[in-house]
This record gives sequence, structure tokens and C-alpha cells, in this order.
Amino acid sequence: MRLDKLLANMGHGSRKDVKTLVKKKRVTVNDSLVKDSGMKIVPEKDMVKVDGTLVEYKPFIYLMMNKPPGYISATEDRHDKTVVDILSPDHQHYKPFPVGRLDKDTEGLLLLTNDGRLAHQLLSPKKDVEKTYYARISGIVTDKDVEAFASGLTLDDGYEAKPAKLRIISSGEQSEIEVVITEGKFHQVKRMFEAVGKKVVYLKRLNMGELTLDELLGLGEYRELNPEELNYCQSIK
Ligand code: URA
Repeated sequence: MRLDKLLANMGHGSRKDVKTLVKKKRVTVNDSLVKDSGMKIVPEKDMVKVDGTLVEYKPFIYLMMNKPPGYISATEDRHDKTVVDILSPDHQHYKPFPVGRLDKDTEGLLLLTNDGRLAHQLLSPKKDVEKTYYARISGIVTDKDVEAFASGLTLDDGYEAKPAKLRIISSGEQSEIEVVITEGKFHQVKRMFEAVGKKVVYLKRLNMGELTLDELLGLGEYRELNPEELNYCQSIK
């Protein structure tokens, strides 16, 4: 890998900025002063320092966000703000993308990473990764709905959804529920409730596999995954 690419990836500015750092004699590789910012290095082996401080090579980034409403789960959008816009330039630098989509009005757990293999595993229909949502539903959710979810609903386009676990938290004019699904079809939870004649008025994702939304994260806040969460991500790759 080129030294300027590594340093740019690790947040030391653009390749041009790196060139300036090198010119100012601020960069060493294995304790020798660098002359050419385009020199080839082996990131796992070579010791790169800027101003005497070791630059740790991290090719991947894993972020947990509490997605706020009003943002699109994409890297760019012509009309709306995206979840990537929320990230600091240091994090944007890694070019992370959201793993799966939450609707614009949906809140809660969203993983952002540049690790395509992990994203693929988490989203693969074969893996049956469980996703738990909390929702408020307009209308009374009944045990009959619980049974219908458990036996697999047919959605508006004829798609047969896999069985889902529906738990009623409270039932009334507006009901509160938790639902666990293993798929991620477009508007899946909303369409499942439409299939039983009800409307989702608020939706928040709480879990994805073994990742649980950190309650300390306010809407629009995010943090890097902790070692335990990273272990889970490595385990399913
Ligand atoms: N199901 C939905 O309907 N919307 C989401 O954002 C996620 C799951």
C-alpha cells in the first residue's frame, strides 16, 4: 500500500496534505525519515509515525448509530440528509455505508461499516439474523395477530413473509409491541401490520443479531463498536 494512502485513510488529510507532512520531515517509516510520500509500505508490518506518534493501521470501521427520523439510510441522496452526513469527517473518511435500510421515519439501531463481508453476512437471507423492533400501532393488536405473525403473513405484493415473533406490550387505541423478524424486505414491519389491517405509527429498531442499541446514544448519536460487539461481528463473517 502507498504510504500517502495509508495516512490519508487514517485521517491525516488528503494525499496532498500527506506530501506536505513528508516535506516537513514529520513522517518516519521504521524510524527512517520518509522522502517519498508515495513509497510502498506493508501496513501490518511497517512502523509508520507522524511527529513520533505511531499510526495504527485500521482498515475497517464499525459504528453503531441511533438513527434519527428524517434521515435516509444511504451514503448520498439528492434531496435528503443521509445517515452518513451525521458522521464526523474522521469517520466519513473510511467511506462507511449503512448495513441495510431503515425507513426515513424509522429510528434506532443502525450499523455503519466499510466491511462489505460483514454487511453481506448480516443481510444474507440464509443467515436468518434476528432483528427486533419496538413499534406503536394504531388500533388494538390481538392474540390473533400474534398467531398470524407466527404462521407467516402474505404481504401486499404476494410475498410470503417468514414467521415472526410478535409480543404485545400493551393493547389499546394505540398498542405497543415488539416484533422479531429475520428478513429485511422494503417496509417489512409496516407491511406486515398492513396485512392484518393495522398501521405502524412509530418504529424503532432495538437489536440486530447480538448487537443491541446502546441506550446511552441519543437520536443522531453514534459510537464505535466495543470489543465484545466486534467479536460478534468477526464471529459471523
Ligand atoms: N420495517 C419497516 O417497515 N421499516 C423499517 O424501517 C424497518 C423495518
